[in-house]
Formats: sequence, structure tokens, C-alpha cells
Amino acid sequence: MARLLQIPLLLLTTLSLVTQAQENQEVWRKFIDIEQDHAFFPETLQFAIQQYNKDSNDEYLYQMTQLIRAQEQLSRGFEYLVNMELSRTMCTKDVGFDPDDCGLQKDPELYKVINCTFFIFAVPWDRQYELRSSNCTNI
Ligand SMILES: *[C@@H]1O[C@H](CO)[C@@H](O)[C@H](O)[C@H]1NC(C)=O
Ligand SMILES: *[C@@H]1O[C@H](CO)[C@@H](O)[C@H](O)[C@H]1NC(C)=O
Repeated sequence: MARLLQIPLLLLTTLSLVTQAQENQEVWRKFIDIEQDHAFFPETLQFAIQQYNKDSNDEYLYQMTQLIRAQEQLSRGFEYLVNMELSRTMCTKDVGFDPDDCGLQKDPELYKVINCTFFIFAVPWDRQYELRSSNCTNI
């Protein structure tokens, strides 16, 4: 009888662990500062900037011109908190979403630099990248 009871208990425990992980409550290591070339970070950041450009209402693409601070936390995947300066390029969005080959705006009327904080979630080995939030202010 005791053995029969153990099974549902084990199942319940397993289920609640899975649920907790999905809700991202399980943090294995809290935020630490990382360098720009930290493992998995460059491709994650590139994805996030492309996603930001897709989502933005601006006619032009933005490019990172300065990384101010990057932090990484480990949970079910990698969580990144990134503060950076993005600048408006001369490329309009209809050319695609890779701003790296674009020159910065020279027109003083269009020149614009913004200060952004991104929260990114990534499971790089599953090619899963999500820009969970972005908050940019004009500089
Ligand atoms: C950019 O934003 C960060 C985070 O909100 C803030 O700490 C920093 O002072 C800002 N820098 C400028 C130049 O506005
Ligand atoms: C966005 O950043 C500004 C300036 O740092 C801050 O006042 C505001 O609360 C932030 N908004 C969100 C949704 O985090």
C-alpha cells in the first residue's frame, strides 16, 4: 500500500519541478557581469537587435554603437540583461534586418541615439532566442 502511494507523490514532485522551471523561478546562478564576447552572448545579442528592429515603428534600422553593461543569469536557459546605445543607420527596414553593414545616419535631422535595456532569454543549443522586453529612451 505504501508503495502505491509513493508513485503519485513522485509524479507530483516531478510535475511541480517542471512547472517551476517553466515559470522560470529556478535561478541557478544570479546575474553577473559578462564581456561582449562571452560564450553564446554575441549571437544572442545579434538576434535581439534584429528582433528589436523588426518590432520597432522606425523606418530605419538601428545598430549597436556602445555596449554599456551586459549581465547573465542562469535559469532554465540563459537570461541576459543588456544596457546599450543603439544608433539609427542609413538603411531603411525594407533592405532586411541585418544592420551591421549599414552606415550611421549622417543627416543631422535623422541622427538619433537611444539608450536601451533589453531582457533576453536564450536556450542556444535549441536555437531558442526571445527578446522578452526592451525599453529605450532618447539620449
Ligand atoms: C542609460 O540607461 C541606463 C539604464 O536605465 C542608465 O543607468 C544610464 O544612466 C542611461 N545612460 C544615459 C546616457 O542616458
Ligand atoms: C524604461 O526606462 C525608463 C528610464 O530608465 C524608466 O523610467 C521606465 O520605468 C522604464 N520602463 C519600463 C517598462 O521598464
